[in-house]
Amino acid sequence: MKLLVVGGAGYIGSHTVRQLRAAGHEVVVLDNLSSGHAEALPGDVTLVRADLLDPEAVKAALNAHQPDAVIHFAALIEVGESMRAPGRYYRNNVVGSLNLLQAIVETRKVPLVFSSTAAVYGTTDAVPIPEDAAMQPESVYGDTKLMTERMIHAFHVAHGLPYTVLRYFNVCGASPAGDIGEAHPSQTHLIELACMTALGQREKMMIFGDDYPTPDGTCIRDYVHVQDLADAHVLAVEALHAGQHVAATYNVGLGHGFSVREVLDAVDRVVGTPLNRELAPRRAGDPPRLVADASRIVADLGFSPRFTDLGEIVQTAWNWHKGHPHGFKK
Ligand code: UFG
Repeated sequence: MKLLVVGGAGYIGSHTVRQLRAAGHEVVVLDNLSSGHAEALPGDVTLVRADLLDPEAVKAALNAHQPDAVIHFAALIEVGESMRAPGRYYRNNVVGSLNLLQAIVETRKVPLVFSSTAAVYGTTDAVPIPEDAAMQPESVYGDTKLMTERMIHAFHVAHGLPYTVLRYFNVCGASPAGDIGEAHPSQTHLIELACMTALGQREKMMIFGDDYPTPDGTCIRDYVHVQDLADAHVLAVEALHAGQHVAATYNVGLGHGFSVREVLDAVDRVVGTPLNRELAPRRAGDPPRLVADASRIVADLGFSPRFTDLGEIVQTAWNWHKGHPHGFKK
């Protein structure tokens, strides 16, 4: 199959490009490189440098490369920033996705796999969270993803566009080879920050609250390894191409969670020295427990995550950060 991977130079996109090629598929990447890195791509992958806010460029790429399916990762992803700059988030994430949808139905009407997020659920009492849980995003970021999910479904109903939505939980880790990994312009994710603290780039790790209703008082999250998540995209796009499970939405997680303290303990063990830790007040908007009910993707697509051991997950992140303390910058 030939795939157009939009946002393929980013963290999750670049791991997916690699897994798609390992599965024998041909890949063309479209990315504006606002947060992605050309260095994260194999040297022989075609990179179209274009922005989803330029509809003509998107149509031109679809016409030029004639993909059999599209995988759409391109988005701004910071929850805090989305609250301060909603216009930028709605424009990039919603208008950009609308341009892509319009371009697909006007050119090739090929299947679409879309990157969504557990942030569409907001705070919920459901543990674990099934796909049909109530959706009340608490951030502009989560809202842009929910709006895009709804647009995609409307294009399916009106134009027959085949699609799969994948709702990611806490994506983490890096390629086991240690050559590609997380390199965002600003870091907010727990494991990434802990690795940077271990490297001495930050003074200490803050634990945002230890008075949550969880066994050790810190928040629990479902940490899914980026390579397993990449495999989920391969499974999803292959099923869509075969005409199976069209218009499905899947949670992607392990189905069990780890607390902030358990994650930091695992980092201590992997690094070999204890991190400097400090207790801080709760961070606004953090639900106590976010764990996926991932049974649907297991049943339909045979999703079978390989990285279920927290120590192993952290080890891959640590290998990447240790070898690339400044990300893709030399
Ligand atoms: N945390 C700390 N200290 C830090 C950073 C994080 O204690 O320095 C805590 C947070 O309070 C939270 C947990 O670690 O309890 C995980 O926080 P992250 O920022 O790593 O991730 P989030 O759970 O906030 O959000 C991530 C993605 C969202 C997605 C969500 C789904 O960023 O887009 O996972 O589970 F929706």
